[in-house]
Amino acid sequence: MNLYALVRDVKDFPKEGILFKDITTLLQDGEGLSESIDQIAAHLENVEFDSVVGPEARGFIFGVPTAYKLKKGFIPVRKPGKLPYQCVSQTYDLEYGSSTIEMHIDAIQKGQKVVIVDDLLATGGTTKAMIDLIERMGGEVVKIVFLIELEFLKGRELLKGYEIESILKY
Ligand code: PRP
Repeated sequence: MNLYALVRDVKDFPKEGILFKDITTLLQDGEGLSESIDQIAAHLENVEFDSVVGPEARGFIFGVPTAYKLKKGFIPVRKPGKLPYQCVSQTYDLEYGSSTIEMHIDAIQKGQKVVIVDDLLATGGTTKAMIDLIERMGGEVVKIVFLIELEFLKGRELLKGYEIESILKY
């Protein structure tokens, strides 16, 4: 099945000059959604880990079904002010300005092995911030899987030393 054909290009979103990879067309397709999750999970089948970590919001779409399929727990990483209990937070640079993500302080135990699942690797900033949060809490990131990788943004360079897989590469 050609998953590339299910991703829609949207010109000038969220701003002029950006060609946005829209996954809603893939999500609307039953076979496409199922195949996407199967392919992500296949990269994790022989990996020893305890939980899947995924960021709001699109990371939840692919992270939770992957965790469910592999019978693992899911740890949500959220934008500030969304998680109810005590949090650890990490601020990271964007092209213009900065952003912050949060995780519950007891989400990860020392020595816990986790994988990260997200829809997109662009600059790698979000993933790097998640890795920092996980490692600050004593966790270990054993693999990272993305549905889409924008190779021309060289996000992998920021994530050197980690095992990364992506299903669709542009
Ligand atoms: C997108 C995407 C990744 C991140 C990738 O999320 O889902 O999490 O950006 O970009 P990066 O590699 O440059 O960090 P976004 O922050 O747009 O949030 P959303 O999922 O809520 O739309």
